[in-house]
Amino acid sequence: MVQSTRSGSLFGSQSKHMSHTLLPSPPQYSYSSTATKTLRIHTTALNRTNLTNSTLQTTRAMGEGTLNPITSTLVHPRWSLRGMTALVTGGTRGIGHAIVEELLVLGATVHTCSRNEAELDGCLKDWSGMGFRVTGCVCDVSSRAERERLMDNVCDVFDGKLNILINNVGTNIRKPVVDFTEEDFSTLMATNFESVFHTSQLAYPLLKTSGSGSIVFVSSVSGFVSLKSMSVQGATKGAINQLTKNLACEWAKDNIRSNAVAPWYIRTSMVEKVLGNKEYLEEVFAITPLRRLGDPEEVSALVAFLCLPASSYITGQIICVDGGMSVYGFYPRHD
Ligand SMILES: NC(=O)c1ccc[n+]([C@@H]2O[C@H](COP(=O)([O-])OP(=O)(O)OC[C@H]3O[C@@H](n4cnc5c(N)ncnc54)[C@H](OP(=O)(O)O)[C@@H]3O)[C@@H](O)[C@H]2O)c1
Repeated sequence: MVQSTRSGSLFGSQSKHMSHTLLPSPPQYSYSSTATKTLRIHTTALNRTNLTNSTLQTTRAMGEGTLNPITSTLVHPRWSLRGMTALVTGGTRGIGHAIVEELLVLGATVHTCSRNEAELDGCLKDWSGMGFRVTGCVCDVSSRAERERLMDNVCDVFDGKLNILINNVGTNIRKPVVDFTEEDFSTLMATNFESVFHTSQLAYPLLKTSGSGSIVFVSSVSGFVSLKSMSVQGATKGAINQLTKNLACEWAKDNIRSNAVAPWYIRTSMVEKVLGNKEYLEEVFAITPLRRLGDPEEVSALVAFLCLPASSYITGQIICVDGGMSVYGFYPRHD
């Protein structure tokens, strides 16, 4: 069953800022895990929100674990996001899409946003069809007013408690510094840096109320090393890296952790045009020790880890997901 609601009430389908709540349909799907020590119980036998006593007893008898209702696998609580709430910005494509799915599979309830309403609806329908608890609303995170509306929605949907904030949205304008217009500069600053700063500010009371908060910024290797025509984009990511460290210290007292992931080229819609150039792609491979591009799931796996209780002593870190690019020195191909 699919409904479009805001705080439980039906919303007009044409409203730009509507919030969509997709209620889980009966389970039609069983996630296939490759883990060896798993307890498989047929998904349809479970009440997703209230595991039966016998199920819990069976689970406990198998070890100190909990049962992931989506994956039907036995997991230790430190590897589970069950009962946690998450906001992922830009969840309809690329890295953000992979992050939404990763968090859902680990048991979190997720809210996401993007600018394209049709694409957002399509994603929410797909995830709902798989039985996940997910909501979303249209929002351009470069707009202060829209960020405020987004956080109002999140507050309503999650009853004022947010465990996880993923500041994923970012964009790029590739130009030499001298060609940058005032508008280019403002667009990059607003979308990449001001948005994550303000969204984190707005999320702070909700993260604090949850009792256990985790922020993950999606930065870039461009925040560490110089990349052609990316001075301004690199500066925004460098700013994100420093903000990551400052928030880790400033909000530690509230049990809020702050970390960042810094990808190199990941196969997404954002970079498909530039990587369509074969010669450019070969140059990318040449400076990447693993000699390939990354996949969104290789970023989302790290993001999810940084949200799990398993990473509870990690804060203030910026971790590269780059096939070794940022540590590559001089390795001549012909000795
Ligand atoms: N792909 C890479 O190689 C790479 C490398 C390093 C860092 N990164 C970083 O990874 C993050 C995600 O990049 P990606 O490659 O996954 O991008 P992508 O494939 O272009 O996806 C971007 C997602 O964000 C949404 N979005 C974009 N602008 C938005 C805005 N102003 N407000 C709300 N939503 C917005 C998009 O939906 P709509 O367009 O419908 O809004 C889409 O869902 C970015 O911060 C980027 O800098 C990417």
